[in-house]
Amino acid sequence: MAAAYAVVFLLHVSTAMAQQAPAAGENLNGETLFATTCGWCHADGGREAGKGPKLANSQRSDEFIVQRIKHGKQGAMPAFENAYNDAQIAEIIKYIRDLKDDPG
Ligand code: HEC
Repeated sequence: MAAAYAVVFLLHVSTAMAQQAPAAGENLNGETLFATTCGWCHADGGREAGKGPKLANSQRSDEFIVQRIKHGKQGAMPAFENAYNDAQIAEIIKYIRDLKDDPG
């Protein structure tokens, strides 16, 4: 089920990428995107709780995270719908999934 969903998600992402060819110079590096816009709330690159919760090892689905990035949460987290396209959001999620939990 989760695997099937992941395939659907990847198909969706690659379709989105094909539709929105990145403009020249568009930042598609999940790590720098995260560092510049998420890192001041999600501390240590998302490995620790700051103003926002720790994101490393998140049990949330990709869909949940996409929705949270796009729409934010009132009074807690800004919406990034107008800041990032689907390809950039996919890169940020890839970055979050690759985070290693920091046991310290
Ligand atoms: C102004 C501070 C702030 C910024 C900037 C911010 N967040 Fe958040 N984020 C929060 C807070 C606070 C929460 C907790 C909201 C709640 O109460 O559920 C949150 C929740 C989340 C969650 C849900 C975590 C969970 O398991 O419930 C995700 C995923 C997330 N943020 C990702 C991001 C990403 C990716 C970015 C950058 C594009 C970002 N955030 C930028 C403050 C921020």
